[in-house]
Amino acid sequence: MHLGKLNPKYGKGSVTLEEEFIDDTEVRLRLEATFRSPDYKPPTLPSVALELLSLSQNPNADFKKVGKVLESDPIITGQVLRIAQSPVYAGRVAITTIPQALSRLGIKTLRDIVLQVALNARVFRAKPYQPTMESLQRHSMAVAHLARIISRYTPFEGEYAFLCGLLHDVGVAGSLIALFESNPKKPPALEDAWSAVKSVHAEASKLMVEQWKLPADIALTVGAHHSVLIQGYPHTMAAIVHLADELAKELGFTTRAEGAFATRNIETMDRGTLLQVLSLSAKQMELISKDALKHLEGLGG
Ligand SMILES: [Fe+2]
Ligand SMILES: [Fe+2]
Repeated sequence: MHLGKLNPKYGKGSVTLEEEFIDDTEVRLRLEATFRSPDYKPPTLPSVALELLSLSQNPNADFKKVGKVLESDPIITGQVLRIAQSPVYAGRVAITTIPQALSRLGIKTLRDIVLQVALNARVFRAKPYQPTMESLQRHSMAVAHLARIISRYTPFEGEYAFLCGLLHDVGVAGSLIALFESNPKKPPALEDAWSAVKSVHAEASKLMVEQWKLPADIALTVGAHHSVLIQGYPHTMAAIVHLADELAKELGFTTRAEGAFATRNIETMDRGTLLQVLSLSAKQMELISKDALKHLEGLGG
């Protein structure tokens, strides 16, 4: 999925200048030590989500088997059916059973909904930071849907883009959980920790995806979702997720702490370079923005 080296006239992407002194060293070191430790374990995903992720990689997956996997977890199944009925997925006929959901939505969309439910229940959770976790959950959903929309203008599969979008910022959740667990009685204030969380989150997302044993390319994509570059080469799916991330923020799907607290600047790719990497014209970008606005109304902005 790598393209050639970027046209030098576009440069390496922009890095904005640090505007104020930020001392996030202590929290950053603590987070880095947590994620580098051989004992680090991300929050566990329910087995139904992991099984479905592995089944969905088989193009001839047996629907009966998938149904059985889902039936093994009625709590998740109930929530999956509720989401399947939301305007974003449902057609005119209501979806009330898993076989119906499977035949109407397909295994990959169902897998995406299951993962969304699993992340909301197990990963986007850390009591002292809950408002930020909830906004992160909405942001991740928006990025997932937008990545799917953008991928329609590229040769890449929409469901795959959705999955990468859903997972791109799990490292933010993983960092907040690690901070809470390191000192449950007195976790650091978000204001003091946010810059460090932002600095490490892409690497943390990569590590978590690796530990969940999801496909290696998803790990690479989430790890590079801000810089878009891997060893100097632009990574197309990372570019899709990065563009989706920016659009989500422009449309109001922002993580609560974003913009509220000062952060160290992280390497990021500018819009012109992104469009070049994805071979998107200004006209196509306009169509994507229109689609995005229409689609996200169903998610509630
Ligand atoms: Fe991010
Ligand atoms: Fe993001």
